[in-house]
Amino acid sequence: MLKNKKIVYFCQECGYESSKWMGQCPGCRAWNTFVEETVSAKKTSSVGSGLKSSSRRAEPVVLKDIRLSEDERRLTKIGELDRVLGGGVVPGSLVLVGGDPGIGKSTLLLQVCRNLALSGNSVLYISGEESLRQIKLRAERIGEFNENLQLLCETNLETIREVIERKKPSMVVIDSIQTMFHEDISSAPGSVSQVRESTNVLMQIAKGQGVSIFIVGHVTKEGNVAGPRVLEHMVDTVLYFEGDRHASYRILRAVKNRFGSTNEIGVFEMRNTGLEEVKNPSEFMLNGKPNGTSGSIVACSMEGTRPILVEIQALVCQSNFGIPRRTAVGTDFNRVNLLMAVLEKKVGIHLAACDAYVNIAGGMKMTEPAIDLGISLAVVSSCKDIIIPDSVIAFGEVGLSGEVRAVSMAGQRVAEAKKLGFDTVILPEVCKSSVGKVTGVNLIYVSWIQEAIRFIMKNN
Ligand code: TYD
Ligand code: MG
Repeated sequence: MLKNKKIVYFCQECGYESSKWMGQCPGCRAWNTFVEETVSAKKTSSVGSGLKSSSRRAEPVVLKDIRLSEDERRLTKIGELDRVLGGGVVPGSLVLVGGDPGIGKSTLLLQVCRNLALSGNSVLYISGEESLRQIKLRAERIGEFNENLQLLCETNLETIREVIERKKPSMVVIDSIQTMFHEDISSAPGSVSQVRESTNVLMQIAKGQGVSIFIVGHVTKEGNVAGPRVLEHMVDTVLYFEGDRHASYRILRAVKNRFGSTNEIGVFEMRNTGLEEVKNPSEFMLNGKPNGTSGSIVACSMEGTRPILVEIQALVCQSNFGIPRRTAVGTDFNRVNLLMAVLEKKVGIHLAACDAYVNIAGGMKMTEPAIDLGISLAVVSSCKDIIIPDSVIAFGEVGLSGEVRAVSMAGQRVAEAKKLGFDTVILPEVCKSSVGKVTGVNLIYVSWIQEAIRFIMKNN
């Protein structure tokens, strides 16, 4: 064996490195996940544009003197994606797109390629998973492509580096990182050291040549990008595609973003012509809401800068066993328990002997405290069999004393409710000054949860 090569054992789940084989990983406690890999102790060059690792002298630059050009970001013309990215693709950035198999990663990136190619950028789509024919079949469904988009079926990173240097594209898609391999590393493609080294090479290409690279990453059963966690540290942006397999919509969420906010989400719908943007998610989420039944109310949660209205459903029924059953789907289980305890103690509603099921309709996941008031009112509505009118929405955080606390951006939430035709909004008293006067909407300010309950009872 060569002198500069050594054998290391890696945990396939979390990337834990060890010089000995172990049955259980000390890092993530998984069993039988260690694999043997040969790593060469080769020096890697440092990355970064304008960075010379060999020179001893380095000259710092005055921040004020750095000029940014006007067209610093390239727009993908897919509004939902541009927003999640923080306003377009930054040249020289490395973006990791993760998600379950079949959720639409390849489809979305092919659509991005199409739009960027149409606006005059040269784009290279490198696939290690599908043949040219398969990509063509998908492209047929998406629409017309122009000559700026070139395809390559390749898995060897050195070849890829050579092609990128020769063709100088402004954007590259790598589908997927788990199929790529580097000749210097002897382990199989998809293994921890291969994925890490491949990402490293791609980062050097991206930073060195100013090309934006999108990497597709597969996810493990736990929902993390397969391979070491360091992958997420190395790239600039990590986007996750989420969504219910059974629902047609998909949510793109930024988990990390060096060039923008991480709260923003993009909502897409899978059609037979590819992924379509959902411009108004609230309308989409409220589709199919039943009218005139108890245990249902519309609440409002902010996802980044955008208010999204969702239906909250609750079902409260007598428990047949000593310990009541509680379930929360789409929201925090402990939060639901806390709110039920507040209702029990402060409002005097007897829930201790009741089973309770709370569900955010449409498969969305929401954890913002602003939906507290909605959850509480849905539980009361189901328990007392009160029908909350369809035109009512509620938002506000509920504290342990039963007080309704302030939430951010109340004005925007009211405006969204008005836009979708709701005429009554129950909201915290403390938000009065920030909302101001709104015509056409009946604003019900409450300071205590009891006041909100009294309001829905009176209207029944
Ligand atoms: P794909 O992009 O191949 O998923 P990933 O790369 O994340 O594994 O998505 C494929 C799924 O989307 C597949 O089940 C078929 C479906 N699909 C449509 O419904 N309409 C379309 O226009 C396209 C291209 C795919
Ligand atoms: Mg794919």
